[in-house]
Amino acid sequence: MTHHTAAITGAASGIGLAAARRLTAAGWTVFGLDLTAAGLATAAATLGPGADRFHPLPCDVADAAAVNAAFRAIAAATPALDALICCAGILRTGPLATMPVAVFDQVFAVNVRGSFLCAQAAVPLLSAGATPGRPGRIVFLSSVAALRPKIDSGAYAASKAAVSQLTRVLAVELGPVPILVNALAPGTVDTPMIHAVSDPAKAGRYRPSGKSPLGRIAQPEDVADVIGFLLSDAARYVTGTTIPVDGGTQAAFVPAG
Ligand SMILES: NC(=O)c1ccc[n+]([C@@H]2O[C@H](COP(=O)([O-])OP(=O)(O)OC[C@H]3O[C@@H](n4cnc5c(N)ncnc54)[C@H](O)[C@@H]3O)[C@@H](O)[C@H]2O)c1
Repeated sequence: MTHHTAAITGAASGIGLAAARRLTAAGWTVFGLDLTAAGLATAAATLGPGADRFHPLPCDVADAAAVNAAFRAIAAATPALDALICCAGILRTGPLATMPVAVFDQVFAVNVRGSFLCAQAAVPLLSAGATPGRPGRIVFLSSVAALRPKIDSGAYAASKAAVSQLTRVLAVELGPVPILVNALAPGTVDTPMIHAVSDPAKAGRYRPSGKSPLGRIAQPEDVADVIGFLLSDAARYVTGTTIPVDGGTQAAFVPAG
């Protein structure tokens, strides 16, 4: 790892928290954005060594004014950022034909607009520290749903496909800076997002992808390790991609029975 200051959205839980733990333990300074100060404080208390390098910033990533205020606070604390990792996201289930418009809009507001707003706000700070030998990094969280959508999660799948397209275009637009832009497409990861939809009584016909061909679902650390790769010098020529981190979940269709 050659870079040392990151902003992570969705840092209070799941994949964002695992990334914050990995980076602070490795000596990075991390600005952690999430909805509530209480959630961030609870998460910070679990970080262990390096917790003093975690700076919580309550922020709704779907709110442009809040995002700009958060990145102004980061700019007041550091002259440059090495990486932005956008983990804030929501999953809402239900058939498209009857999904309330407000729910559809909320999914896009957090997953797509939130990723776009944070990237836009972070670019000046990422540019400030970027050199050809030390490119800035943006990592978005797409999903296996962008590559292989499922019923009763159509809004989520469409939002993640949009994240993957933002990744491609932003990577080419920001290549000359240089800032590398990539997305990860996890399969089922053991986080509160999945716990919330694991009860069929509440999730309708939606089902998580479940165990991969490797025989288990992912732990958040499985995804955080690939984030670590994308922030490392080893990934210096990787940009514009959506990388599956799914244990082979979408590699081939498995017939029922
Ligand atoms: N868990 C999975 O199986 C899985 C699979 C594929 C992709 N993903 C994606 O990975 C990312 C992280 O998911 P996770 O599983 O860690 O979920 P999670 O629910 O554990 O964590 C998401 C975090 O985002 C925060 N958040 C939600 N809305 C926000 C907003 N408007 N502003 C700021 N923060 C907000 C939540 O408070 C929470 O702390 C998401 O984008 C998700 O879509 C997850």
